[in-house]
Amino acid sequence: MPGLDGDKILVTGALGQIGTELVEALRDKYGASSVIASDIRSDEHNNAINNGPYATLDVLDTDSIIKICKDEGIGTVYHLAALLSATGEQNPELCRKVNVGGTISVLEAARECSLRIFTPSSIAVFGPDAPKHAPQITDLNPTTVYGETKVKGELLAKEYWDDYGIDVRGIRYPGLISYKAPAGGGTTDYAVEIFEAALKDGYYNCFVRPDTRLPMLYMDDAIRATLMLMDAQSGTLGPSKAGYNIDCYSFTAEELAHAISKEIDGFKCDFSPDIRQKYADSWPDSIDGSVAKEEWNWSPNFDLDKMVKEMLNGLSKEH
Ligand code: NAD
Ligand code: SER
Repeated sequence: MPGLDGDKILVTGALGQIGTELVEALRDKYGASSVIASDIRSDEHNNAINNGPYATLDVLDTDSIIKICKDEGIGTVYHLAALLSATGEQNPELCRKVNVGGTISVLEAARECSLRIFTPSSIAVFGPDAPKHAPQITDLNPTTVYGETKVKGELLAKEYWDDYGIDVRGIRYPGLISYKAPAGGGTTDYAVEIFEAALKDGYYNCFVRPDTRLPMLYMDDAIRATLMLMDAQSGTLGPSKAGYNIDCYSFTAEELAHAISKEIDGFKCDFSPDIRQKYADSWPDSIDGSVAKEEWNWSPNFDLDKMVKEMLNGLSKEH
């Protein structure tokens, strides 16, 4: 049952860090021909294009989204197309346009074609006034444009659920760590880049301070959480369904560098904070995922040391 009742699945922004692995997982689960990957760009090396159906699609083009949904019998959309925090702060207008405009396009397509939607939120919804161990429910006053677009995304999801009965779900993903596709221009990219640099050069110059602590998750866990949430019976989900905090791990940049140096002899990391430090400082150190645990039984499989081993093994095999 891809989506509902045999309908197919569409993934937007499918060539990015998450899409590359989510498309693979969805095709393993539902069959390659049931999952249409799409993005605004092309990438001949990405398996989302090579291992199943692919469409070039701009998420600002509502008519084209509706057309592909009708033509292909789409029942569920995983809407991943967005600009991340660092790129978004450099291009605030484009960030608002793609992140908010793209979400509205997909939600309008959902009204027209009776779709179920997954649209991710982020730990960037929290601002500096939120508790450093961020609860599920607190005031959301982000100081980044990217964070504002994610708060708006959650509000839109609630509105379409309440006003039109559209089943829209989301997770406030922490910083995601993976090796199959590059990180896409976020503040948490240091926690991805550090592995490649450690293996290649034995050295990384990190763009946040050593004491920067952020919530993080290995991609395997993020994909599993996404599939679990979308499989959950709608009646079990409460008012947080548009943006669940999920249990993850929390470590400083220095703790990450230390965990890598236990695996790679002589690895050295320096720290030269840039503008991204400001965005990181505005986010929580950790998040409380008890609502996701209660409502759909979420808990992660990885911790820092296990994730570091998996990353280094995976990257070594890729090369
Ligand atoms: P990414 O930057 O790696 O990928 C996004 C993809 O969207 C890119 O392939 C890009 O080409 C595509 N895109 C951009 N504009 C588009 C448009 N107009 N039409 C169609 N496609 C377009 O991002 P990601 O890390 O895969 O993130 C996916 C989602 O998850 C985003 O909503 C992001 O905010 C959220 N998220 C990611 C993280 C993380 O650490 N990766 C954390 C929290 C939330
Ligand atoms: N990992 C993302 C970023 O840094 C958070 O949403 O932008």
